[in-house]
Amino acid sequence: MSLLLNSSFTGASSACLLQRERSRRRRLHVPGVTCRQGSNGDRRDAAPQQQSPLLLDRRDMLLGLGGLYGVTAGPKVLAAPIMPPDLSKCYPATAPALDNKCCPPYDPGETISEYSFPATHLRVRRPAHIVKDDQEYMDKYKEAVRRMKNLPADHPWNYYQQANIHCQYCNYAYHQQNADDVPIQVHFSWIFLPWHRYYLHFYERILGKLIDDDTFTIPFWNWDTKDGMTFPAIFQDAASPLYDPRRDQRHVKDGKILDLKYAITENESTASDSEIIRENLCFIQKTFKHSLSLAELFMGDPVRAGEKEIQEANGQLEVIHNAVHSWVGEPSGYNENMGDFSTAARDSVFFCHHCNVDRMWDIYRNLRGNRVEFEDNDWLDSTFLFHDENEQLVKVKASQMLDCLNPTKLRYTFEQVPLPWLGKINCQKTAETKSKATTELSLNRVNEFGTTAQALDASNPLRVIVARPKKNRKKKEKQEKVEVIQIKDIKVATNEATRFDVYVAVPYGDLAGPDYGEFVGSYVRLAHRMKGSEGTEVQGPKKKGKLKLGITPLLEDIDAEDADKLVVTLVLRTGSVTVGGVSINLLQTDSTAAI
Ligand code: C2O
Repeated sequence: MSLLLNSSFTGASSACLLQRERSRRRRLHVPGVTCRQGSNGDRRDAAPQQQSPLLLDRRDMLLGLGGLYGVTAGPKVLAAPIMPPDLSKCYPATAPALDNKCCPPYDPGETISEYSFPATHLRVRRPAHIVKDDQEYMDKYKEAVRRMKNLPADHPWNYYQQANIHCQYCNYAYHQQNADDVPIQVHFSWIFLPWHRYYLHFYERILGKLIDDDTFTIPFWNWDTKDGMTFPAIFQDAASPLYDPRRDQRHVKDGKILDLKYAITENESTASDSEIIRENLCFIQKTFKHSLSLAELFMGDPVRAGEKEIQEANGQLEVIHNAVHSWVGEPSGYNENMGDFSTAARDSVFFCHHCNVDRMWDIYRNLRGNRVEFEDNDWLDSTFLFHDENEQLVKVKASQMLDCLNPTKLRYTFEQVPLPWLGKINCQKTAETKSKATTELSLNRVNEFGTTAQALDASNPLRVIVARPKKNRKKKEKQEKVEVIQIKDIKVATNEATRFDVYVAVPYGDLAGPDYGEFVGSYVRLAHRMKGSEGTEVQGPKKKGKLKLGITPLLEDIDAEDADKLVVTLVLRTGSVTVGGVSINLLQTDSTAAI
């Protein structure tokens, strides 16, 4: 597969806007009416009264029905984008690892301004395993972090203040301004990627400012290629400001291969290095292949202002990202630093890891022809607050970074490196294994899911037979709708890490062979511990989540096109989990991109 992934050329911006406008118009069925003003997606102020009531989009509809929502049993949903908090109200975080202390100093006189996007040359982020040998760069990077650590403890740029931002926005220190009873959470939804992109951007710009270098970039942990699949050595020198002792010492030592299927409480994988590398590459390939046609599968589900009881839904990129967090953090205690969101950003490798997550999003967008992932103002207008490189408190919207070749608005790009997972790798089980499974004659009856929630059991995977909505779909049908395994009402004990893996196989009638079949994807969640008023740890609320995994290309790969039903197997790896249902559905695609 030869694909030119080049996000550094310019001049496509207006074409992209046009594309956005066109597809939005298609969605609204408004021929020839352009409501969008400029690039920030602020359509509401443009000319709402020109729309016939029948042409209103879903958000306008929900706003109109606001009263109804209030009186019926439905949740209070504002159907509006997530807005930044009122900074004067920072609640103690539920972060026992930090003793709940992650609120920043508050300056009541501080005003919020618009961010002036940088006007630098395109800055190039490079792989951590390559910058290691660039002495000049490494000296700068370490000096910048050293200076950040030496700033007064209450300076917004101080290293630990920067780290605390992450704690504030994932351990419930701030509530939504337009729905004060709902905390802001920047994980488990479609704001995961834009919020973290800005977070990294400002961190990078501040580091550059501290060493007076406008070209400075942070490196990316290139964990999607063989040479980058170990803990980056640049963070392992105990004398360097990039060092952090709170890591899983079994993993950070030289040469240990990162395992994207790592599950904290299990023994380490005994597979060979080359096997783990192949599995990692296949996991990444599958993630792209199965989610290219629908952005939410990759990036997470919508979250809107005021939504409280939503079923959290990570995209598969966030799932892979969680696995890396837990692989780096200490295996016991609070899994510090990387293994717990409240402490994760205290380890410099956090930003290097997220730089690669950000790069994965960039590649995803490139593969989809640079189209905007969610044509929905509740995503585009999601708004965040940060301290910028000029010590200003600024507000930024998701849409502002998107004009239009991914990060170029922020004036950075990524060094082009090989993408081995995009090439041909053998990710399916061999024909040999398959036929062996069928001759073993240990076929078992497998039931449908039934109506009651089921607990997963580590020693006895849950296997269910699930009807497909349609078999032998034509190419065109597949382009219009993607087949998705949906697991709903996932309840986990939030004070421990969770992982289960999902496999799919073709049944023999209603019988299943002993083999789980093909790996499809995973559910991974870091522990999110809560501290009670006595200061002792308490069991957090049982959060509900859902998991959506695209399987259209996978069914082609395993020759399952004409199966009426599939056997879905959930293998619990760590944590305690119940699930409320497993189904297979067809969801409208938003792209015909494929690899
Ligand atoms: Cu906010 Cu890697 O997490």
